[in-house]
Amino acid sequence: MHKIKVDLKERCYDIVIGKGIVSGVKPDPSVFRPYVSGRKCLVVTDSNVKGLLGARLLKILGAAGADAELAVFKAGEGSKNIGTYESLLRKACKLGLDRSSVIVALGGGVVGDVAGFVAATYMRGIDFIQVPTTLLAMVDSSVGGKTGIDLPEGKNLVGAFWQPRLVIIDPAVLKTLPKREIRCGLAEVVKYGVIMDDKFFSFLEKNLCKIKNLETVTYGKIISRCCELKAEVVCKDERETTGLRAILNYGHSFGHAVETVTGYGKYAHGEAVSIGMCIAANFAVLNHKFAPSMAERQLNLLKALGLPTILDRGIKPAQIYGAMFKDKKTEKGKLRLVLPSRIGKVSLVKDADGESVLEAIRSVV
Ligand SMILES: NC(=O)c1ccc[n+]([C@@H]2O[C@H](COP(=O)([O-])OP(=O)(O)OC[C@H]3O[C@@H](n4cnc5c(N)ncnc54)[C@H](O)[C@@H]3O)[C@@H](O)[C@H]2O)c1
Ligand SMILES: [Zn+2]
Repeated sequence: MHKIKVDLKERCYDIVIGKGIVSGVKPDPSVFRPYVSGRKCLVVTDSNVKGLLGARLLKILGAAGADAELAVFKAGEGSKNIGTYESLLRKACKLGLDRSSVIVALGGGVVGDVAGFVAATYMRGIDFIQVPTTLLAMVDSSVGGKTGIDLPEGKNLVGAFWQPRLVIIDPAVLKTLPKREIRCGLAEVVKYGVIMDDKFFSFLEKNLCKIKNLETVTYGKIISRCCELKAEVVCKDERETTGLRAILNYGHSFGHAVETVTGYGKYAHGEAVSIGMCIAANFAVLNHKFAPSMAERQLNLLKALGLPTILDRGIKPAQIYGAMFKDKKTEKGKLRLVLPSRIGKVSLVKDADGESVLEAIRSVV
């Protein structure tokens, strides 16, 4: 079992990573006990994860001394809305949850974001535990305290910063996750290597077979490192005020534009981020900020992991370029880009030159 401390002073919490904590033959209720014993817990999950782990987690929480109930909503981003949020709040009322109760999010980023927002706002905020079950949620969304829902007008438009009290990660639950979801999580994993840790990037290059074979021990190491890196950034810039947290958006400005232009469906988020990181790297190369050999290493790793690195035919670079200016992260018509200077280091560029942005987008057609 590996423990990582997210040192946010009074909002400090542990991320506990261990094979079998939730899925094992003899799961261990002791990690949950101090957080749930004698308290009402509402376990929020989705329709896919319910059958895989719902009953199991209820049993573990029961053994840890909690009075736990389950709330389930339909799996998918389409459920990350006000309707689901309202029904969860009302279920919490009906079950008599009070200020001492705990919300437990069991699932991917969708479950974590909605359940976290319920916890942030129910009775002005109650305790919240994350049990992420997708790779993306394990390495990204479960750590850092961003919670929220979508509106028909756009993604993540309503939300709150609300840190969990505890994050429990069992890498063995990834065995049932569809391969495409694994690949999408891996795009975020590669991102951490490029932005912060060249040794970790090399580790990924050297362990391709184990990664492809979904080796639990290797995933345990990968998840631990990503959580450490994310915790480091979040502790220095919890609410995105100093700009440091923005480095986690590497590849995302281009990626979001790819998702927007293709109508959220053709590319999954991680796939769009993979293409986005290629565009960002090519832009940095064009501006002599990043060695071509480094961009090639990133390209090769993404390809080897089965991620897309070029745009499908029919998608026009000018459309992607146009969509980038509509991104909420665009500041007064200026593009803010996170660009690599070497593997393991990035910097923020505030007013990227439009013509070379377009040229970089053209380089992945
Ligand atoms: N809060 C943050 O900081 C943050 C960061 C990144 C992304 N997000 C959000 O996360 C969401 C995406 O998360 P996601 O990619 O985890 O998607 P998701 O929650 O929709 O999960 C993907 C699919 O996998 C299924 N699933 C989950 N665990 C499984 C398992 N162990 N075995 C089999 N199937 C399983 C789910 O039911 C779903 O169908 C987006 O809404 C995004 O905005 C939030
Ligand atoms: Zn992302």
